[in-house]
Amino acid sequence: MGGGTELALACDYRLALDDDKTRIGLPEVKLGIHPAYGGVVRATKMINPLQSLEIMLSGRALRARQARSMGLVDVIQPKRQIERAAQQMALKPPKRQSMPWVGKILSLPGVRKLVAAMMKQQVAKKAPKQHYPAPYAIIDLWSRYYGNSKRMMREEAKSVARLIQGDTVRNLIKVFFMQTRLKGLGDKKAFVPQHVHVIGAGIMGGDIAAWCALRGFTVTLQDQQAKYLSNAFKRAHQLYRKRIKNTAERNAAIDRLIPDLNGDGVARADVIIEAIYEDVDAKHEIFRAIEPRMKADAVLATNTSSIPLEELATALAEPDRLVGIHFFNPVAMMPLVEIVKTESSSERAVEQAIAFTQHIGKLPLPVKSSPGFLVNRILMPYLVEAFTIYDEGVAAEAIDKAATDFGMPMGPVELADTVGLDVCLSVANNLSKAFGIEVPVGLENFVDSKKLGKKTNEGFYRYKKGKPVKDKDADLGDQKAIQDRLIFRFLNESAACLQEGIVDDKDLLDAGVIFGTGFAPFHGGPINYCLQQGVDNLTASMSEYEEKLGKRFKPSSGWSQL
Ligand code: NAI
Repeated sequence: MGGGTELALACDYRLALDDDKTRIGLPEVKLGIHPAYGGVVRATKMINPLQSLEIMLSGRALRARQARSMGLVDVIQPKRQIERAAQQMALKPPKRQSMPWVGKILSLPGVRKLVAAMMKQQVAKKAPKQHYPAPYAIIDLWSRYYGNSKRMMREEAKSVARLIQGDTVRNLIKVFFMQTRLKGLGDKKAFVPQHVHVIGAGIMGGDIAAWCALRGFTVTLQDQQAKYLSNAFKRAHQLYRKRIKNTAERNAAIDRLIPDLNGDGVARADVIIEAIYEDVDAKHEIFRAIEPRMKADAVLATNTSSIPLEELATALAEPDRLVGIHFFNPVAMMPLVEIVKTESSSERAVEQAIAFTQHIGKLPLPVKSSPGFLVNRILMPYLVEAFTIYDEGVAAEAIDKAATDFGMPMGPVELADTVGLDVCLSVANNLSKAFGIEVPVGLENFVDSKKLGKKTNEGFYRYKKGKPVKDKDADLGDQKAIQDRLIFRFLNESAACLQEGIVDDKDLLDAGVIFGTGFAPFHGGPINYCLQQGVDNLTASMSEYEEKLGKRFKPSSGWSQL
């Protein structure tokens, strides 16, 4: 897409196919670089720089109509007319597009400097310069060299050459290929479900149902109480208002989502997802009730976070048909879905679950059935370490800063507040039983006093209008030690998961952790990071922490496999 758009920008005119599949954009920034065939020069010369820079800084893809309304393409035509339109343009060239006057003003030298400074501030909120230099390079090119196209062309090439030499680019390209790999898993054509039935309209079930209807499926949503259904529908409407601009399409999505108090959808569904609360007996009861009514080839999945699938499957006459399709909260934002298979899960059920996940536009990650699966298992020791450090008297702000400086999108304390401290405690307790993780008392105290994080407006932080109130003058303590402790726990658990075969290989582990936790993508995933830093160096430092702080820092025997 990027190369194609750059080539088109070098032409006199641009015609785009008016088709739902057309995508135009300059996504290079996602790989840590920027356009280098003159794309920065030409795009900023052609349309309002606020728009051209935004496209390059976000890397987002435009549809044909958006590109035309911005002036990035001149004409859009459906397939049957596009060739004629091209011929006409060649034979009777119309006047070429010129920069609108607002764009000309924004490009004046003095204004340009101001705009550039503001844009850098915006970018810094999402992508710190030390980790993601490419967007800053785009802004600098425009701000310094706009108006001298020849020079700007040379500087554009030099700038990309500089960026390409860093690890960031190599790692982001690796992440891009890992994402492509996840997108290619399974065979979408081999299983084309039409109807999804979701049981449990709580936080997860409601949002899973809404997402599936958004993606074109007929969805029946079952709950034992009408009030949960009505809450779920309210959230679905909110999601559709945000995601679907066209009213007819939005109404169609709403129509596809059907409340189903009696569970009539079970008999018609191709995929059934159980997402009722975390209780073995209740889940058993549901399975016993629905199994005889399901279609013979329907997929039966549970969204459980912590109950072993083996235990859940005991209520089924055909236990091999149960798989885990484990979504993350918030469903609409999180790209990854863990596909959990037990020793006895049928190959067919797993393949169908993977295909279904592809159909709903999520990235499937096959994982072994084991406490915490992959993502929660790796995340929890890191969160627990953050709670421990907090209990030692370190400010939440200091802990979060150490993590975001490493490249995490959000610090562990704020993350825990966002997820909900009750949810964190329950996952931590569950993993503590399995792996002996010590859950710090501070976390329990918060939960006991009903300070559950963002949802109750108070947890580790206080919340105002959904945003944490942070103390700018908080004592940052020993940032290196805090960062080491957090990251070492994360990395050590990653090595352990790899050794236990929770996922099939190290690239799947890196991909799962990046798309499931947001682990700094420019590090290329935890295992990639360890290999780049040197396993011996890391384990030696871990051993020092083991001496000081105890056996939770003892390097996993999984390191020897790397
Ligand atoms: P929740 O408590 O928000 O919702 C549970 C819903 O199930 C309620 O609406 C309840 O009325 C309904 N329900 C209970 N028994 C029922 C029955 N017999 N028939 C029909 N509906 C019934 O729970 P939440 O958080 O959505 O969790 C659901 C599942 O998803 C759990 O297994 C949990 O482990 C898992 N999960 C939760 C995540 C989270 O962040 N909350 C993340 C990933 C998985």
